Amino acid sequence: MLTETVSPALTQFASDVRQGLNTAGQKQLPSKYLYDAVGSALFEVISVIPEYGVTRADERILRSAAEQIATLVPFPLTVCELGSGSGKKTRYILEALSLHAELDYYPIEISAGALSSCERELSNIYGVNTVGLEREYIEGLRDVAQHRNPDTHLLVLFLGSTIGNFDSGSDCQFLSQIRQTLCCGDTVLLGTDLLKPASRLIAAYDDPAGVTAAFNLNLLARINRELDADFDLRQFEHEARFNQITGSVEMHLRSKKKQTVYLPSADCRISFREGETIWTESSHKYSLAEVGKLAHSSGFRCEQRWVDDEWPFAESLFVAI
Ligand code: AVI
Repeated sequence: MLTETVSPALTQFASDVRQGLNTAGQKQLPSKYLYDAVGSALFEVISVIPEYGVTRADERILRSAAEQIATLVPFPLTVCELGSGSGKKTRYILEALSLHAELDYYPIEISAGALSSCERELSNIYGVNTVGLEREYIEGLRDVAQHRNPDTHLLVLFLGSTIGNFDSGSDCQFLSQIRQTLCCGDTVLLGTDLLKPASRLIAAYDDPAGVTAAFNLNLLARINRELDADFDLRQFEHEARFNQITGSVEMHLRSKKKQTVYLPSADCRISFREGETIWTESSHKYSLAEVGKLAHSSGFRCEQRWVDDEWPFAESLFVAI
């Protein structure tokens, strides 16, 4: 007889969904679940839509500052990248660094698909030895840090403002965890999206072509696909809000009517009121002062900062102290 085995990742997904949708107050789902194969592909599209300037700003800074960055970091060097995505913008940095010395590059990703496209994109840079790690960020980073040659410095790349997707306060906690894996003098290159007018932000997170809406709704489709639920996607709509108090864009999925959804993995029905929302993501927009504070309170000093004028976005080089 065949016994079906359920992967630990699927069990965790089911438990997070059950917990997030069964709360008495604001229903919520962890934003990391937006990134299955479909969600990651939709995010690649978001990164090129005209209203969403984050990825292009990040790329513009990296392209123009790469050579300067290579003069500011200590060698010999090992580079770790947290959430490498397609790896396209990392090429500028790796090419500039490799002109100074050969180096090992470890992209760390939980998504096998994103990891292999990054390895494909970056495996042909002369002087760069790429080794992908399919791991959680801190776990992978610890592993690289523990096995490094004692005279080698680490540069951690955390680009694209993914730090802004952490819950309030946990951005600092996460950077402190990174700091604990590093030695004094090691560096972090951190991308942070900056505050800008709310109208510009809403257009970026609720684009007229509906790509971000599809990205958000795919989370419900994923719950249907993987957990056998019966969300009717046509009865939910995407909403982007700017929360002035927290300085974050919030993505929600709004129920268009009073309805119930069956969740077989928990053998329960989830009720929605008309207009009730599921909060699926926060994207924090920083002030430059906040970025400085973030460095200071997590054990770094900010050595250098580059800001894009077209789409306010900052790349900061933090040095572990
Ligand atoms: C991955 N992250 C930095 C994106 C952001 O802008 O917060 C995710 C995203 N969500 C909707 N559009 C883009």
